Amino acid sequence: MNKLSKYPILLFLYCAAALFTLYYCKNDKQQPVSEDLGSVKTRIIKTNTDFEKQINELKTLVSANSDEKLLQEKFQDIRKTYKRMEWAVEYFLPHSARFINGPALPEIEMDEHTEIEPEGLQVLEEMFYPYDKGNKDEVIRMLNKLINKSNTIATNFQVITISKDQVFDALRQEAFRISSLGIAGFDTPVSGIFLQEMPSSLEGIKETLEQISTKRSKDKALKSIIAEINSAIKVLKKNTDKNTFDYAGFIPDHLNKITTLMLDFKNQEKIPDVEVTTALNKNAATFFVKNAFNPNAFTPGKEYAFSEEKAALGHQLFNDKILSNNNNRSCATCHIPEKAFTDGLARSISLENSELARNAPSLNYAGYQHGQFWDMRKDDLEGQSSDVISNKEEMHGDLNVILAKINQDKNYQAAFKKIYHSPKTEVWQLQNVLASYIRSLSKFNSAFDEYMRGNKSAMTESQKRGFNLFVGKAQCAICHFVPLFNGTVPPNFKKTEQEVLGVAVNGENKAFDNDLGRGKFHETVPSLQHSFKTPTLRNINKTAPYMHNGGYKTLKEVMTFYNKGGGKAFGFKVENQTLSDAPLQLTDKEINDIIDFLKALDDQ
Ligand code: HEC
Ligand code: HEC
Repeated sequence: MNKLSKYPILLFLYCAAALFTLYYCKNDKQQPVSEDLGSVKTRIIKTNTDFEKQINELKTLVSANSDEKLLQEKFQDIRKTYKRMEWAVEYFLPHSARFINGPALPEIEMDEHTEIEPEGLQVLEEMFYPYDKGNKDEVIRMLNKLINKSNTIATNFQVITISKDQVFDALRQEAFRISSLGIAGFDTPVSGIFLQEMPSSLEGIKETLEQISTKRSKDKALKSIIAEINSAIKVLKKNTDKNTFDYAGFIPDHLNKITTLMLDFKNQEKIPDVEVTTALNKNAATFFVKNAFNPNAFTPGKEYAFSEEKAALGHQLFNDKILSNNNNRSCATCHIPEKAFTDGLARSISLENSELARNAPSLNYAGYQHGQFWDMRKDDLEGQSSDVISNKEEMHGDLNVILAKINQDKNYQAAFKKIYHSPKTEVWQLQNVLASYIRSLSKFNSAFDEYMRGNKSAMTESQKRGFNLFVGKAQCAICHFVPLFNGTVPPNFKKTEQEVLGVAVNGENKAFDNDLGRGKFHETVPSLQHSFKTPTLRNINKTAPYMHNGGYKTLKEVMTFYNKGGGKAFGFKVENQTLSDAPLQLTDKEINDIIDFLKALDDQ
């Protein structure tokens, strides 16, 4: 009897559990949304069909010798269609994306020291703005290449499997792409039509989120995102002039809200993280939240992971003359903390009291670059430190001698052992602690960061105007990307760019500086000659003099150089200059506003 009476209870419990599991699976686990994702793919393929159709229409117009205005209108339509599926092409087919909408500059294969001819929308932009009928055949050739790429999109999306976590990750990257490259007009440097096409990128995000959302979030996060995207689009439609658009208002009031809501959406939908270490943390609601960036995305491997302990030991060694040959120099001799880790000299002074070839760069944010030194001759900070230590002019240290010194020092020995657990300190560990210290020098606490976090009074009116000019009229942000203000390309931060500005020997801009920069290591690559890494502008107010040669004494001198159009505009022969040589036409007041804004990039 006793035994029997338990049965109904057990049965009840069992059923309840089963029901619960069923309910739980249905609502909380990642759904087998193959159906939905099928429709996501269908939409991409359909958009791509429109894309190809429009390219063909443009071809017809070109063949019929239509006038420039018509051609430009059709070109804009094509770009808008691409923007709708950009999130998918950039994420799933990055190689195709490079040749559909990459810079109109040769693609460089660094390892092979070769260049590949550029193609795609940006090359076409240069051909349509302005249009030269004599170029007709070349334009048709480029349009045919674009049709080929469109075919690649079609064939790939017919066969690849995409998962919901990837689709979400791709959409999130697109939102961050808009917040950095998009607002800067990175891919429309000639026509400047990016504000007109941004609504299409946002629509692409919106319609796809709608497709992947389950009922659960339809009335919550998704609703808010749709409302926010619609309101952003309204603002964009109101002012399409890149020179007067209020970027300083648009980013915090709209774009930051959209990326924040997307994170809510992800949490509500319980979408798992894609398992790849990325520079921008998966849980960063905006570019500007504290700890948005992960320094480990820039290390040579897992065992090099950042820790406060490593940074503290690195700090000690950074200031210790033990690292130099004669115990007479430390890293801090040339990288002085009060000067944002520069030395205030045009070029650093060598051990023999002569000038080194280049200016000492700031070490703040140096951890967020894939390329160290002005010529990027080292990939990461670990490689960099051994270079400096053993450099005859800089520290002339011998790594083995230094290690012997460290291994004789009880305190250092104990500190290294505590971190790495090896009997003797090894070279890579010494490099790693120094690198870790440098990685710790990224505070992200400037007035600009505060402002972007919502404190609208953190920047002055002049600084806000300066930021608007920096992004808009002066086009600085197409190379110094928000939010790091260096050349590490958002939104996945996997690559750091070098550029050719045609810098002069000094601010008089009378003689060209012959330093080959990165070109020295790639003699067969014309586009790399005289190229230098795009440095961060964070803390730039503290690091005069400027440029790789320290030739420009003040920010005003730097601005004069840019305002005119770089070296080419001063008459230097720099065929491969990547900076536009068109004058920026900034007034004195505008230049002062930009300089004022740069001061808002000082860490506190
Ligand atoms: C004699 C002055 C001097 C000393 C001492 C010195 N540096 Fe430098 N450092 C420079 C100069 C000059 C450059 C730029 C060289 C170039 O790009 O060709 C540089 C570049 C760097 C860079 C590259 C930053 C970037 O953004 O490209 C890092 C990192 C760095 N130094 C760290 C260190 C560390 C760590 C030490 C100590 C082990 C050290 N430096 C000692 C002068 C010095
Ligand atoms: C085409 C890409 C590009 C554009 C556009 C650009 N920069 Fe630069 N910027 C660079 C590169 C590359 C360097 C380093 C050049 C060198 O040292 O030879 C640099 C250097 C600088 C420096 C000196 C940095 C230092 O540490 O010495 C400042 C300041 C600066 N840029 C500000 C600006 C401002 C302001 C604008 C907009 C008016 C701007 N840049 C536009 C690529 C660019």
